[in-house]
Amino acid sequence: MSEATGPLAGRTIVLGVTGSIAAYKAVEVASRLVQAGATVRTVMTRAATEFVGPATFRGVTGHEPLVDIWAPDGEHAEPHVALGREADLMLVTPATASVLGRLAHGISDDCVTLTGLAMRGPLLVAPAMDAGMWANAATQANVRTLQERGVTFLGPLEGRLASGEIGAGRLMEPVTIVDHIKAAAGRLDGALAGARIAVTAGGTREPVDPVRFVGNRSSGKMGYAVAEAARDRGADVVLITSAELAAPAGVRVAPVETAQEMLEAVEEHAATSDALIMAAAVADYRPVEAAKEKQKRGGRETWGIDLVRNPDIIATVQGERLIKVAFAAETQDLVDNAQKKLVEKNAHLIVANDVSATDAGFAVDTNRITILDRDGNQDELPLMSKYDCGVRILDRVQELLAARG
Ligand code: CTP
Repeated sequence: MSEATGPLAGRTIVLGVTGSIAAYKAVEVASRLVQAGATVRTVMTRAATEFVGPATFRGVTGHEPLVDIWAPDGEHAEPHVALGREADLMLVTPATASVLGRLAHGISDDCVTLTGLAMRGPLLVAPAMDAGMWANAATQANVRTLQERGVTFLGPLEGRLASGEIGAGRLMEPVTIVDHIKAAAGRLDGALAGARIAVTAGGTREPVDPVRFVGNRSSGKMGYAVAEAARDRGADVVLITSAELAAPAGVRVAPVETAQEMLEAVEEHAATSDALIMAAAVADYRPVEAAKEKQKRGGRETWGIDLVRNPDIIATVQGERLIKVAFAAETQDLVDNAQKKLVEKNAHLIVANDVSATDAGFAVDTNRITILDRDGNQDELPLMSKYDCGVRILDRVQELLAARG
């Protein structure tokens, strides 16, 4: 993804850092936000500076952190009010129990809570604390108050805490926090904000017996990249997947295994979706019957498995207003075969790719796609990341959604 086009390009984000041992991880969050094209303005509590020095954030973000309420920033009479007005959103990471309490009660006695109160855009908090402090009724009441006011909680996660204990209170990983910030930024005014998009991914697995299945070489990467790109534009995304990749943050995941399960999930979600993007490699056939017990080798030299045709999901799913995007994985006559599939599947667009190439198609992070539409237009794109392929596909989906009205 390039800085110029990502959801954080040109955004101003207030990063609030409070006094937790996890404060050092806020440096990585700051760095990733800057790399994604955002302007990061750090505000810190005094306690936070006991863990990480302001100079570190100055170095990473290029801006002097605000620590002292009374110190002028040379530009604004009230820097926290100016930040609250200018910034697109605010993230507090790590958020201590104490800062959650002060935010919940409107107590604004440091730069983080002051700016939080002055903030006009969304507020997201990533808590980090001891498991007992997180579970405490006072903390939980503050969490509920903040959630009711629309504050988004990122974590905390279960895991090993600084005390050595295992429990809920661990800071979410910086990379995941940044993904959630991308989703939140997309929802602000992304081109697909408010749109509901269902994406399928992975190769379906059709059971032969409890340990074997009929499958294919699809990794699911293309579908995950499309889902991520749609999330970054603000869409409400459901990813119906048979792949075992880590779920992209900010995307709802509906796990499925077989073509039949995928059909049911697609039917359920398509009813409320604006677009369906079928990047999954659906097995065309499944064993007539899956054996209940593991099949033994016995004395047999060959093993024939009777297969029966699976439903064609994208062709089956109808919706008057549903924009349908199919994929065509081909090893020969790419465009001709794709054009035929576009018609057969009654799709609006078909994304053709040659899966015999080594730098495109299965399991790699790049792809070379051609997008075909119902008017016979062919958009042959160069080799690019699967995320960027997703961006180009969504450009076309957006046009169709706009034309649909
Ligand atoms: N597809 C589907 N249901 C199926 C098979 C495919 O919805 N049972 C979808 C795929 O997700 C993809 C498109 O149809 O978006 C084309 O898939 P592909 O495997 O290329 O084509 P097939 O229709 O299976 O045709 P063939 O295997 O003969 O090339």
